[in-house]
Amino acid sequence: MTPNLKHLHPYPFEKLAQLKQGIVPPANQPHIALSMGEPTHATPHLIQEALLTHLHGLANYPTTKGIPELRQAIAGWINRRFQIPADAVNAETQVLPVNGTREALFSFAQCIIDPTKAAPAPDRLAAYTPSLAIPTPVVIMPNPFYQIYEGAALLAGAEPYFLNTLEDSGYLPDFDAVPDEIWQRCQLIYICSPGNPTGSVIDQASHEKLLNLAEKYDFVIASDECYTEIYDDESNPPPGLLQTAYNMGNTAFKRCVIFHSLSKRSNAPGLRSGFVAGDAEILKHYFQYRTYHGCAMPLPTQHASIQAWQDEHHVVENRRLYREKFAAFIDILGDVCTVIKPPASFYVWLKTPISDTDFARQLFAEQNITVLPGSYLSRDFGDINPGLNHVRIALVAPLDECIEAAQRIKNFLNSL
Ligand SMILES: Cc1ncc(COP(=O)(O)O)c(C=O)c1O
Repeated sequence: MTPNLKHLHPYPFEKLAQLKQGIVPPANQPHIALSMGEPTHATPHLIQEALLTHLHGLANYPTTKGIPELRQAIAGWINRRFQIPADAVNAETQVLPVNGTREALFSFAQCIIDPTKAAPAPDRLAAYTPSLAIPTPVVIMPNPFYQIYEGAALLAGAEPYFLNTLEDSGYLPDFDAVPDEIWQRCQLIYICSPGNPTGSVIDQASHEKLLNLAEKYDFVIASDECYTEIYDDESNPPPGLLQTAYNMGNTAFKRCVIFHSLSKRSNAPGLRSGFVAGDAEILKHYFQYRTYHGCAMPLPTQHASIQAWQDEHHVVENRRLYREKFAAFIDILGDVCTVIKPPASFYVWLKTPISDTDFARQLFAEQNITVLPGSYLSRDFGDINPGLNHVRIALVAPLDECIEAAQRIKNFLNSL
């Protein structure tokens, strides 16, 4: 076994199951699940129909690269969504289909991290693995985070370095706070915008800063943008990393790879469909890696995905449904606590008056509602744990259930 396996942390939902173990919630109140980021709005018919129409595609092995029509549909979506010229993204060399962003975010680090990279400068030797005199690679990521980033870094033999995202800084990472020594060893950074669990959005100026750092220190930026289509202001969609790179003149998207998904955008988490796009040189190697990894997207899924990326009506409607739920939820809970409406995502990142684990346990025991303790999504770093005393509430349930949940959470808060 790889010894790196022992560094992996239990997944947040394993911890949550433990926390709830043995508790019998009130039987007269139906359970409301707001812990997982699993959309429950209907999967659009056009996706289902395309899947059925192309079931015969199961008779063929799909290719890792995917069919050209899918890569073209994705490239077309990128240039419409991020307002870059139609030929800015080369569907042949700068786009690859992936089976949801999770597997791609994980496998990407396995391909990118080079444990043998670069001899250290003599005065930096102490910071490196002493027996090898080779710098331990660093993977930077937000804290709290989507835990796949951490697991990917650890299994790739890298050291995770966390960027605490706190209320004071609008729940955004502060790239200026990273020491030079860490940037020197950084080979990969994961950013997540809109963020899970805070819903904060990284603006173009911060993208620019990071792109300049990536050039200076020569690291790769993996931009997880899987919530980018769930936003509040219809006239102000979250910017994407490729968009900023292009506008800065980095038209080859050097050192940039974006990760997108149909799971949240198109309510199709079971389809397992997404894509990566960006730097052709990086994707050439990642393509080779994926060929061996064996993660080609089934043909019916590719055809369903083409339909999804070409349609925006269902996405606009999806956003309307989330907006409706945020408004109702905040309207009810706003009387008893401060609920910050995030600019994007479907999460409420709520401060708790008692510890986050006690809050989640008692809320389940008394109101039969499951939410996720914030500390299950974060690590102690620099004397703080930014997830402590927060819970993540995913407004994924139907509107009436979200309203019912808000009322029960209000009763619970009043009873504390
Ligand atoms: C931040 C973030 N990235 C990636 C994913 C993975 O999504 P999928 O694999 O369905 O594309 C999730 C899922 O919840 C997520 O929250």
